[in-house]
Amino acid sequence: MRSASLKDRYGAVALVTGASSGIGAAFSRALAAEGFTVLAVARRADRLAALESEIKKDGNGSLIPVVVDLSRDDGVDAVVRFVQETGLAVDVLVNNAGVGFLGPLETVERDKTIGMINLNCRAVVDMTIRFLPGMKVRRRGAVIVVSSVVGTVPAPWFSAYSATKAFDLYFGESLHGECVGTGVDVLTVLPGLTETEFQAGAGLRDYHSPYRSAQHVVESALGSLGKKSIVVDGWFNKFLAHGARFIPRGLLLALSRIVMRKELGY
Ligand SMILES: NC(=O)c1ccc[n+]([C@@H]2O[C@H](COP(=O)([O-])OP(=O)(O)OC[C@H]3O[C@@H](n4cnc5c(N)ncnc54)[C@H](OP(=O)(O)O)[C@@H]3O)[C@@H](O)[C@H]2O)c1
Repeated sequence: MRSASLKDRYGAVALVTGASSGIGAAFSRALAAEGFTVLAVARRADRLAALESEIKKDGNGSLIPVVVDLSRDDGVDAVVRFVQETGLAVDVLVNNAGVGFLGPLETVERDKTIGMINLNCRAVVDMTIRFLPGMKVRRRGAVIVVSSVVGTVPAPWFSAYSATKAFDLYFGESLHGECVGTGVDVLTVLPGLTETEFQAGAGLRDYHSPYRSAQHVVESALGSLGKKSIVVDGWFNKFLAHGARFIPRGLLLALSRIVMRKELGY
């Protein structure tokens, strides 16, 4: 028997943050291919417009650009206002937008670090607070939180980023428990190193670890939605994230420090 499509299970409208590149663009393409109307949030209007044209040409679903900076205090309010004006109800929320900055904590510009915390943590919780109630009333919907394997291990020289992703992991996993029986599925996704624009933004040079594609991450996520509370993308990342639980924290930190130091040259 053919299993129900995502649209049959959840509704017709998805909101994807960080849709202008990488994993968010891949989520938008995949959800549009399933017939969703995708509200695509990011700062770069030109990128969203290009994705809108691409999806239009493919003939499945549609994409509506929502140009907003989610690191700003009024970012989530602006998204909510936009969605209200369209009259659409968000059935699938993908909290994906995120940035990270490598380096000794005090050397990264303070505004960048605080903006990252706003984007990676505050916006994720606030977006969910705004759109979860409607899903619960309709007794169907989905919330996806994009965390990281880096949220499962201490990461020297990536300390604030690693903490934001641990926040996302605990937020998403706890919310999953909270939503059992409500008709709303909550999934936390843990990508490892994935080929996107993230590395350049973070200041990462070459890295000799297996890369996954944004499409791999999205396939892992959409394949696990409604079945699991968390999914780690890729066997190597599963080995890292799950294996880390059996290593004493002090040893894990020492190992992580050696790897980060070698890769980053600190
Ligand atoms: N790539 C990896 O190796 C990796 C590994 C683990 C987890 N992750 C997580 O995956 C998620 C997606 O990252 P990615 O790898 O796809 O990186 P990416 O290609 O750099 O995409 C990041 C997205 O976030 C958006 N964004 C950044 N700042 C924003 C802001 N202030 N307001 C609104 N949108 C903003 C960007 O759009 P604009 O610049 O247009 O605003 C872009 O669409 C992040 O949460 C990241 O932490 C990535």
